[in-house]
Amino acid sequence: MKHLLKMADLSRDEIMDILNLADQLKYERAHGIAHRRLEGKTLGMIFQKSSTRTRVSFETGMYQLGGQALFLSNRDLQIGRGEPVEDTARVLSRYLDGIMIRTFEQAEVEALAKYGSIPVINGLTDYCHPCQVLADLMTIREYKGQFDGLKMTYIGDGNNMANSLIVGGLTVGMDVAIACPDGYRPDPAVLEFTKAYGDKFTLTSSPTEAAVDADVIFTDVWASMGQEDEAEQRRKAFVGFQVNDEIMAVAHKDAMVQHCLPAHRGEEITAEVFEAHADEIFDEAENRLHAQKAVIVKLLS
Ligand code: CP
Ligand code: NVA
Repeated sequence: MKHLLKMADLSRDEIMDILNLADQLKYERAHGIAHRRLEGKTLGMIFQKSSTRTRVSFETGMYQLGGQALFLSNRDLQIGRGEPVEDTARVLSRYLDGIMIRTFEQAEVEALAKYGSIPVINGLTDYCHPCQVLADLMTIREYKGQFDGLKMTYIGDGNNMANSLIVGGLTVGMDVAIACPDGYRPDPAVLEFTKAYGDKFTLTSSPTEAAVDADVIFTDVWASMGQEDEAEQRRKAFVGFQVNDEIMAVAHKDAMVQHCLPAHRGEEITAEVFEAHADEIFDEAENRLHAQKAVIVKLLS
């Protein structure tokens, strides 16, 4: 593994390796065992969109591993004034040991990896969110023990989260059911990917149908970063695509709920379901730290 650009870059074995290392780093952290595996290393973090979890978990993670992180906002970098990503990649490669980038276009992340000579980590694009999904898989395995035989359901927008959950969930062996309104389906490349998995993947416009017998239920915001102008139109299009008591009633009795956060209570999830599953959701948020530490140890050391 040279970069983490999207989930489809990872094999099942590579995902398991990352999750095993993440579990070990979480254990070491909980038991006060120092793990300064990235002493002297620097991770640059380019943010062209807002972030709470990604920024703080990468920065803290680098610090705990003995290295340091540089927060590089779009406002401060010349990239924000039009310097080409190809040049930025070659310059930053001379200073840093790795780059994490959160941006709009997936092509920008791919260009950074192509022109640079250091590992690139995708911290979210409009297309995908692999760091989040590694933390999600880690959390599911913590709660359920394994992936085989589990059904993962995602209800809502066929966005970056849906795209990465589909690929990640199928790769580790889960059944994946997605419910999206027509017109808000996952990316065509992801739907192409699912073809190799036959009836382990289902796509429907009925949230209830997707939730039947689910072991894990995911949702995400109806309007992602960059889609603020469409928020009103999306609020109408997504009526009924909410994780609520009726959805939970058809899932397994012990079904988990996951949300990458930030959450909009009363839109994609009710406050009741959110609070009933808050422990699982905040364990998921915590696992961003451990899963990403595993990724940077694998890529930077
Ligand atoms: N889930 C997630 O990526 O959160 P942030 O936008 O706060 O980084
Ligand atoms: N789909 C959301 C995820 C935020 C972590 C967004 O892109 O804004």
